[in-house]
Amino acid sequence: MIFYFSATGNSRHVARRVSTATGEELISIAECVKEGRYRFSADGDAFGIVSPTYAWGLPIIVRDFLQQLTIDGNPGYVWFAATYGTTPGQTGRFADDIMRRKGRPFDAFFSVKMPDTWTPMFDLSDPAKVSRINRDAEQEIDFVIGKVQNRERGDFMRRKAPVLAAKLVYALEYDSMRRARHFAVEDSCVGCGLCARKCPVAAIEICDRKPVWTKDRCVMRLACLHHCPKFAIQYGNKTKRHGQYTHPGA
Ligand SMILES: Cc1cc2nc3c(=O)[nH]c(=O)nc-3n(C[C@H](O)[C@H](O)[C@H](O)COP(=O)(O)O)c2cc1C
Ligand code: SF4
Repeated sequence: MIFYFSATGNSRHVARRVSTATGEELISIAECVKEGRYRFSADGDAFGIVSPTYAWGLPIIVRDFLQQLTIDGNPGYVWFAATYGTTPGQTGRFADDIMRRKGRPFDAFFSVKMPDTWTPMFDLSDPAKVSRINRDAEQEIDFVIGKVQNRERGDFMRRKAPVLAAKLVYALEYDSMRRARHFAVEDSCVGCGLCARKCPVAAIEICDRKPVWTKDRCVMRLACLHHCPKFAIQYGNKTKRHGQYTHPGA
């Protein structure tokens, strides 16, 4: 089983490539949460998690999923992979802290550098740069596949941040990034409702043919911004010029 969470397709692409190579079933964490499915059995089997990095830690939906997860039996190999743009922070360590409390820590940790979808800061408007990053990522994914197929144990995560710094960034930054008041909707919005339908925590409602955030905070995966057919959702004043992004395989 390979569980993934993905807003713009990077983590899904990694999970899908490993799944294709290993024959492991691909399972969406967002779907599990929607359906309230937290119990799985994996006796002797491999069990993987693929997640984006948010503020040097885990997206809140992945953290909550791991906390609620029950694995019946003893999985033979448990691995974690984070996709990231600049640093995976301490995603592996934070995920492992949760699994350790359940009595089954991870056997291996991986990271894959991909386009950084935090466009309030990072510029993804150059298609050549974006495709170069995605091309380079394929080699890192091959590395993950090789290790997972051989069930190799170890911490293969690159470019990590110091633990204390990651704890501080995650505690202070993620919470404020998650505030829905940062979003603005431009007049180009046609009221199609895609943003509301796809939000995994139902934080958006369509009122008078415009999205309205009904929760103070959301997961802040920015899928609404990156998938909007009119690029009408903005976060702060830089996202417009930094462009929209979805993984080419999404
Ligand atoms: C809210 C948010 C916070 C992020 N924080 C980080 C971060 O701390 N470090 C990093 O390298 N990338 C960060 N990113 C970038 C994503 O981790 C990266 O682009 C990931 O591959 C996106 O995966 P997805 O396409 O599966 O959603 C952030 C993205 C978002 C939306
Ligand atoms: S996806 Fe874009 S165009 Fe559609 S309702 Fe949301 S903001 Fe408007």
